[in-house]
Amino acid sequence: MDFKLLAAAVLLAAAPASAETPRMEEASNAAAEIIDMRSSLAKAFIEPGAEITPETFKNVCGRVGARVKELSETRGMKIRHAAEKYRNPANKAASEEAALIARFAGDKDLNEVRDELFIDGASYSRVTRPIFVEEACLACHGDRDARPAFIKEKYPDDRAFGYRPGDLRGIISVTVPENPAGEKR
Ligand code: HEC
Repeated sequence: MDFKLLAAAVLLAAAPASAETPRMEEASNAAAEIIDMRSSLAKAFIEPGAEITPETFKNVCGRVGARVKELSETRGMKIRHAAEKYRNPANKAASEEAALIARFAGDKDLNEVRDELFIDGASYSRVTRPIFVEEACLACHGDRDARPAFIKEKYPDDRAFGYRPGDLRGIISVTVPENPAGEKR
């Protein structure tokens, strides 16, 4: 067995309480904040029946993207969205993410999964939360033909349509270093 993996397994077994570290809480709060932010902005900027323009997109997802960038830069967080029916191909769920998505799909009461990663001697706390579709999302994630023109053009490989309120849209994972780079345990 790979020594690094073995060491990780031992550490994991020895540190069950670490699921409640302040950094884990921070990751959990950041994931919740991003989900709530997208939801509130979509409700605030999308009027039923009104045309969805690139400007609308900037006000909703653009602001969410800016906050994600800010959290990454100021708090060293790594924030990732993933979906099986994705819009941006960069967000295509990897197999481990697909397994998490399946877990959330199978248990609608599960509101987050916390785990620890050990990479190159550093440990990271990760919190993954499910993202659900609401009425306001349908303006851009509803029926295929009803998608705004700029979305059809910009995402030729788009799969993120045909959703209904309550559907699991995907996941957000926030990863934070527990022992920031340079600090040896
Ligand atoms: C104004 C149009 C618009 C609205 C409204 C909108 N989205 Fe999106 N959404 C997009 C676009 C465009 C992308 C791709 C962004 C990119 O290129 O990374 C996207 C990407 C996403 C992603 C990342 C995964 C992927 O498929 O690439 C998630 C998750 C998501 N949207 C969820 C939601 C949810 C939940 C709502 C409602 C609260 C919502 N969206 C409302 C346009 C929208």
